Amino acid sequence: MLAIAGTPCVAMGETVNISTPQTSLILDAAEGQPLKILYYGDRLSEADASALSDGGGAMWLNAYPVYGIYPMAEAALSVTHSDGNRTTDIAVTGVSTRTDADGGEVTTVKMRDRFYPFDVNVNYRTYPAEDIIETWVDVTNGEKGMVTLNRFLSGYLPIRYGNVWMHSLYGTWADETNITEEPVPHGVRMIKNKDGLRNSHTSHAEVMLSLDGRPRENQGRVIGAALCYTGNYKMFIDTDDGDYHHLFAGINEENSEYHLKKGETFTTPELAFTYSDEGLSGVSRNFHRWGRNHRLHAGDKERKILLNSWEGVYLAVNEEVMSGMMEDIASMGGELFVMDDGWFGDKYKRDVDNSSLGDWVVDKSKLPHGIYGLLDEASRHGIRFGIWIEPEMTNTLSELYERHPEYVVKAPHREIVKGRGGTQVVLDMANPKVQDIVFEVVDTLMTKYPAIDYIKWDANAPVMEHGSQYLTADNQSHLYIDYHKGLEKTLDRIRTAHPDVTIQLCASGGGRVNWGFLPWFDEFWCSDNTDALQRVFMQWGTSYFYPAIAMGSHISASPNHQTFRRIPIKFRADVAMSGRLGLEMQPRDMNEEDRAVCRQAIADYKAIRPIVQFGDLYRLQSPYERKGVASLMYVTPEKDDAVFYWWKIETFMGQQLPRIPMAGLDPDKNYRVTELNRIDNQPLPYEGKTFSGRYLMSNGLEMPVTYRVDYHKNTDYSSRVLRLTEVR
Ligand code: GLA
Repeated sequence: MLAIAGTPCVAMGETVNISTPQTSLILDAAEGQPLKILYYGDRLSEADASALSDGGGAMWLNAYPVYGIYPMAEAALSVTHSDGNRTTDIAVTGVSTRTDADGGEVTTVKMRDRFYPFDVNVNYRTYPAEDIIETWVDVTNGEKGMVTLNRFLSGYLPIRYGNVWMHSLYGTWADETNITEEPVPHGVRMIKNKDGLRNSHTSHAEVMLSLDGRPRENQGRVIGAALCYTGNYKMFIDTDDGDYHHLFAGINEENSEYHLKKGETFTTPELAFTYSDEGLSGVSRNFHRWGRNHRLHAGDKERKILLNSWEGVYLAVNEEVMSGMMEDIASMGGELFVMDDGWFGDKYKRDVDNSSLGDWVVDKSKLPHGIYGLLDEASRHGIRFGIWIEPEMTNTLSELYERHPEYVVKAPHREIVKGRGGTQVVLDMANPKVQDIVFEVVDTLMTKYPAIDYIKWDANAPVMEHGSQYLTADNQSHLYIDYHKGLEKTLDRIRTAHPDVTIQLCASGGGRVNWGFLPWFDEFWCSDNTDALQRVFMQWGTSYFYPAIAMGSHISASPNHQTFRRIPIKFRADVAMSGRLGLEMQPRDMNEEDRAVCRQAIADYKAIRPIVQFGDLYRLQSPYERKGVASLMYVTPEKDDAVFYWWKIETFMGQQLPRIPMAGLDPDKNYRVTELNRIDNQPLPYEGKTFSGRYLMSNGLEMPVTYRVDYHKNTDYSSRVLRLTEVR
């Protein structure tokens, strides 16, 4: 019998077809047998799906391999049963389907150990309009005693051996989301994170696999996978001498074995995967659409254009300066001002970054009229107000730490290890009392000042020693996992109480860019590096899995504070406009000309905001190919409006820059070209002209290599933003 996800039928064991509009995952769930995966790829007809079980190239591999019988292969689950037996042998007992509140259709394949009352449910969720499948596992201990989970990954996917290339993201503070591309090697290629808190520095928990050799942006078969988790993870591809590459992903079990008492269930985070025959960009579009519709908090609401105070004034926050910044961003057309670090502390003042985290009271010496005064000022300027917090942290120089040294992560008999400022320590989110404190940081702010529109939630430290003062001695291995369970519980409480406040997730820049966080957060800060040139590369990598609506992308000062590079305001604005536009500088330091460019960029961004924030991304020319330019575009789902970005990333005389054919348009529609953010003395030759989608996609438009400005204003930079609007 064939069971199709989303239909109310329950398979009697046999073929289970988990289909999305363009993809199919075919499983065999015969009762009494381990669950098998037969196929994953392009959507199959029912006839092909049924025929698979009779042969036809089906994989017939365990869909969720467990450790014990044939222990030489890698497994997704490894358990020590209550009697010490380290083998697990599971077989299907049934399949059920249900529809959840979000319209997701969940197929659960229930399995039980052949001897022990130990249950493993493998779940698959699809949505009617998305090409993503989410998978996760619930493990329940029905045995008399304690079961120890030694490995408990979220999912497994076999990929036919061949010319498979792997793409992943790596980086560190101020150098996030670099792309690495390589043929999948024999042996094990591992991506992992053990920071404890910030899981997208080092590397990202996502991967793309091109099935047809060296990847292309808009052609070729590609599988993408993203582990949606807030904590330590591992993702690895094991290639032995068989016919398959084996992709595993889940929580990093290192030093985290988990004890399950009788009756307890452990639920893994979700692994979201997709398949597209439209290349890397196709996979990205699948993630972006699914993310905006089902994962990102308020993914259907436009994001405001903001000024954040950090690079403008760092910790030197005070009422006069904040008011001035609000006046300036309002005068340029911005909609929101965010006061970053430096506003709090009573006994200890936050004048340098070595104190006061945890003491979330206004520093009256800096802000004599408090938050109310700032909110009044914002409303006087017709903008909204936001504020920075770092609620999971404290400093040894703080009133919170003086009162409760037992609330921080610390191992017995060890000197406490301190981070930023020589004093920063991490609060132990495994502890329910700490969870209350963290909830109250947000709840108190929002209850006292309901007009706060935006919170920047930061986290600037890793777990620096393995020890929970809350967990019992025999459960110290739960620290990494219970920290995140506690964090997620707290975020649930926060969102139940305060669903409407926009919350940005930041962690030493882009340290927490993971789909696991985004159900509670509206956006993330990509990096503390705001250099526009490096941002072209970093935002390119980020866009592999994350949509522009979630990507904080700010115009900052020149010379840049991280790279000291001098970049003209036009280029800085053209890069920032490809994400969620903001400013990160002291506007008072800008000259009138630069202000005018910002004002124009903000006005133009307002017009294209729905296209950038809700449109489909087509990456066209990767900066990583070093062809001298990078280019991408966003197109509305109706293909009636688009924005094209072109950035020159190198300058040499005699350079032969490629002309960039566009993508994603309707060949049969006609589009009028308008340049945005124009600084040239004359319009481009094709300004206001109309071209067919077919011409724009087969040929593209020539871009002048420089801005066409007065001679003394020439620089080595050049960039263009063009809007393409359908002419009916
Ligand atoms: C981190 C963030 C910055 C800024 C500072 C404040 O480094 O990434 O954007 O908020 O903290 O201390």
